[in-house]
Amino acid sequence: MTLPSFPGPVDRPRRLRRSAAMRSLVREHTLRPADLVLPMFVREGARENRPVSSMPGVEQHTMDSLVRAATEATERGVGGVMLFGVPEHKDATGSGATDEDGILNRALARLRAELGDATVIMADLCLDEFTDHGHCGVLDDAGHVDNDATLQRYREMALAQAEAGAHLLGPSGMMDGQIAAIRDALDAADRTDVALYAYTAKYASAFYGPFREAVDSSLSGDRRGYQQDPANGREALRELELDVAEGADLVMVKPGLPYLDVLKDVAAASPVPVGAYQVSGEYAMIEAASANGWVDRDRTILESLLAFRRAGASTVLTYYASEVAGWFRDGLPPHLREFA
Ligand code: PBG
Repeated sequence: MTLPSFPGPVDRPRRLRRSAAMRSLVREHTLRPADLVLPMFVREGARENRPVSSMPGVEQHTMDSLVRAATEATERGVGGVMLFGVPEHKDATGSGATDEDGILNRALARLRAELGDATVIMADLCLDEFTDHGHCGVLDDAGHVDNDATLQRYREMALAQAEAGAHLLGPSGMMDGQIAAIRDALDAADRTDVALYAYTAKYASAFYGPFREAVDSSLSGDRRGYQQDPANGREALRELELDVAEGADLVMVKPGLPYLDVLKDVAAASPVPVGAYQVSGEYAMIEAASANGWVDRDRTILESLLAFRRAGASTVLTYYASEVAGWFRDGLPPHLREFA
């Protein structure tokens, strides 16, 4: 049988894809350096930078190189920097986290002195980098993370970070009531100026693997007793409700690409700005595939960042923040222009 010829479709979405100019005209989402936040690691007592082998291009900074890199990122226009400390000594309660001479608090003070309000200085508010057992809180006699005893430590840590000069604190430990407990401590100390970036939906994820190397984590065991189950979407909305009610100024979903559905749901429901964290394992995957020539590195980076914006994130934490901001400052090369 001979087929009669098809008259052709009436609807032709390809009309809007014909030229770069037409595509640019109808583009819905864009990236800007100010949307990007750079997570950074600073190591106590370090004489020189140490590369993080599972995250090519990322390093544990010395205090001086931290200042240089944060200044450069600020000049390129990134929205902020998120600081993680790698202390020399760890103990059961993570005492280095609340010590004003602890590495994270010293680094915050130094960055605030150097950068003032030129960028948003954020602090990871969690004990895992500082505890010898590697958990995000203090342990009870049975070896479980003790929620309410941990809240007390977070309150002390928040005051130390506020005192050091952080603008925005990022409680990442997934303890119940952490936003309320920290907000109360800050307000009681007249630090109503310091904002909270709640890690609202934070999953117990294998994608954090390289981060453990980046902070010399001593964790044995896992975090499934406090971080969310990757199988669950609904509880992200409950965490959102709680965080907003407790006083979160911004909320975050983490990891990023594997949880875009959660990000989209949270962004649709949230009355406060929403961010996404492209975590260490996501970075490592892009780097590994690029190094093998399996994906086009620069385009893959920008496409992944744009995906967060499309899903509803206003800020994106990414280890690519400074590099990408530099591309924008220098003017995107022709093969990347569609991302501008
Ligand atoms: C906990 C914390 C982690 C990350 C950020 N904050 C590790 C964890 O929860 O196990 C991971 C970030 C990344 O993988 O890039 N302080």
